[in-house]
Amino acid sequence: MEIRIERTTTPKAKPVDESQLGFGKIFTDHMFIMEYDTGKGWHDARVVPYGDISLSPAAMVLHYGQEIFEGMKAYRTPDGEVQFFRPEENFKRLNSSAERLIIPEIPVEDALQALHTLVEVDKDWVPHTDGASLYIRPFVIAVDPFLGVRPGDKYYFIIICSPSGAYYASGLNPVSIYVETNYVRAVKGGMGYTKTGGNYAASLAGQDEAHKQNYSQVLWLDGVERKYIEEVGAMNIMFVIDGELVTPELQGSILPGITRKSVLELCRKWGMKVSERRITIQEVADAYDAGKLQEVFGTGTAAVISPVGHLKWGDKVMEINGNKIGDISQKIYDTMTGMQYGKLADEMGWIVPLKK
Ligand code: PLP
Ligand code: COI
Repeated sequence: MEIRIERTTTPKAKPVDESQLGFGKIFTDHMFIMEYDTGKGWHDARVVPYGDISLSPAAMVLHYGQEIFEGMKAYRTPDGEVQFFRPEENFKRLNSSAERLIIPEIPVEDALQALHTLVEVDKDWVPHTDGASLYIRPFVIAVDPFLGVRPGDKYYFIIICSPSGAYYASGLNPVSIYVETNYVRAVKGGMGYTKTGGNYAASLAGQDEAHKQNYSQVLWLDGVERKYIEEVGAMNIMFVIDGELVTPELQGSILPGITRKSVLELCRKWGMKVSERRITIQEVADAYDAGKLQEVFGTGTAAVISPVGHLKWGDKVMEINGNKIGDISQKIYDTMTGMQYGKLADEMGWIVPLKK
């Protein structure tokens, strides 16, 4: 694929204090764009100065939400190099989301080339501070000006980058999570396994209620029986019960997280007992009452490994591991981030250095 590069003539000042980055608030100097037209395929791949895009007010994405996205990161190693974590997995998942929303697929090789080209141009924006990284947001939108409900004939594939710190203000400190019993996020047969804006729009009312009660995120239950655990707003969820790592199986309504998959692979390699299965919130509460709920943590690109310190289900508030990060969560966090930031050897073959 040929990618044209147009560099900015007015580069922005880079953040001075990387400890104050927050998440997803500032953007680099460039972005990648490529267009799709039915009959022509993907064309006009280019890296251009970051800036507003122009859309018709009738653009289909604005009305019916035909949109998909990904979330990934570029990390700075101790010797100043830049690397990615399993980036091909993100682009495979983008295509799985694309298939569900009738969006044309993007060859994984082309998407990877776009990623490397953009991050090479903006590599000075990859933070140098521990815990900070360059958050990368690829997305596809349907842009035809048309108000009928049908798949688009014209799309943009765009990648933007945001130097970011921890997703939660609390950093690696445990988060408080609220089990949502009123709203649901997704159902089997719906779009729960895709990364599409609508899933996040559906999550806002629950999240708003959680925030009002001083909880940072919602733990979703299944949409049919309201008893099986699904996932959290921006991460998958894992439990350590009596020495066994348990996480909900992938059955169509939760996102197949790349961090989730990696953590399961690591723990299996370490010889831990690992189960992907249906698990009810009642089972978690019973394990808590029996003193067997050792650790709870979320996994995600933005969230990394986020220990859960409090889990509220109805009137019951479970304080997990004394609201402190547990040994297993800490070991997983250290190993994952060690590999991602190039401080530990990549024994799993997950790291992809930035092509120069
Ligand atoms: N679940 C949801 C709803 C998410 O938004 C995310 C974040 O991408 C995850 C899980 C974790 O997925 P991953 O580990 O691939 O980032
Ligand atoms: C990610 O972890 O990359 C996500 O997409 C979470 C996000 C919704 C902030």
